[in-house]
Amino acid sequence: MLERIDHVGVAVAEIDAPLSVLRDAFGLAVAHREVVEEQGVEAVLLDVGENHVELLAPLDEDTPVGRFLAKRGPGLHHIAYQVSDIATELDALRSAGVRLIDERPRVGIRNSRVAFVHPSSAGGVLTEIVQPAEQ
Ligand code: CO
Repeated sequence: MLERIDHVGVAVAEIDAPLSVLRDAFGLAVAHREVVEEQGVEAVLLDVGENHVELLAPLDEDTPVGRFLAKRGPGLHHIAYQVSDIATELDALRSAGVRLIDERPRVGIRNSRVAFVHPSSAGGVLTEIVQPAEQ
């Protein structure tokens, strides 16, 4: 079951300029910053209440976010829903005929477990489901 929106992902060419706008002009607090090698990104999470905005900058051009930027430019990249049991959620989505990008969870930011759903199964929006690491 999708419990809430965890974050909205925004693709950017580099982190620091958009980060300073969100932090200094919008007043959002930086919750976390991490290079996620497995996803080929540097990511920053900013708090918006219980939810987050996630800035994503590619580590190089030949990464999913690098290819996204080359094709579409910076902007809205994905929406992420929080679940408490990602394996069960993936099974349910698969059974419902949803097209998955990740058949198995992989490591996301803050040691979460994440999996992506293809935009063609989610209203044209790249969709992530995320199970946070145990606190
Ligand atoms: Co994300």
